[in-house]
Amino acid sequence: MNWSTIVSATDGSERSINAAKLAADLARSCGAKLLIITVVRPPEGWWGIGGAPPTATALTKALDEAQHEALDATLRALDLEGVDYETTEELGDPATTIIGFCEDNNADLLVIGRRGAGVIERFILGSVADRLVHYSPCPVLVVP
Ligand SMILES: Nc1ncnc2c1ncn2[C@@H]1O[C@H](COP(=O)(O)OP(=O)(O)OP(=O)(O)O)[C@@H](O)[C@H]1O
Ligand SMILES: [Mg+2]
Repeated sequence: MNWSTIVSATDGSERSINAAKLAADLARSCGAKLLIITVVRPPEGWWGIGGAPPTATALTKALDEAQHEALDATLRALDLEGVDYETTEELGDPATTIIGFCEDNNADLLVIGRRGAGVIERFILGSVADRLVHYSPCPVLVVP
């Protein structure tokens, strides 16, 4: 396979970590660079405890922590020996941000889980996975 850039999108959930494990194995076996991205959606209408709006500092800190948690959990679970990888943390709408990231990096493959950290199991595909499958600029590997 002539893949040079593989993107793995993780929200820290078990399923996205399983997808990231496959992405790391693929990157190792085809000598591709692995880009691991996590996106935190700014909480809309989050007014903190006691009804007071969060300060910019509190909001930034909470978002930073959420990103670090998702990435840390993923990195802890991966065997990255011999893999050329980079991590990226972004703030924004997950699907839109991941699509832009794949475009900017000329990704050859995007690897995602079928579901993520969401708790409402209404659909077989999660909403982020659904949008990625529809709009990704590169092939998508969806891991059950
Ligand atoms: N914030 C995110 N940052 C990076 N990757 C993500 C993010 N959210 C989802 N993904 C990727 O998309 C896959 C599917 O997650 P998705 O969010 O679609 O499912 P869900 O959380 O079960 O459902 P929903 O979010 O619709 O409630 C995840 O396994 C992960 O690979
Ligand atoms: Mg989700």
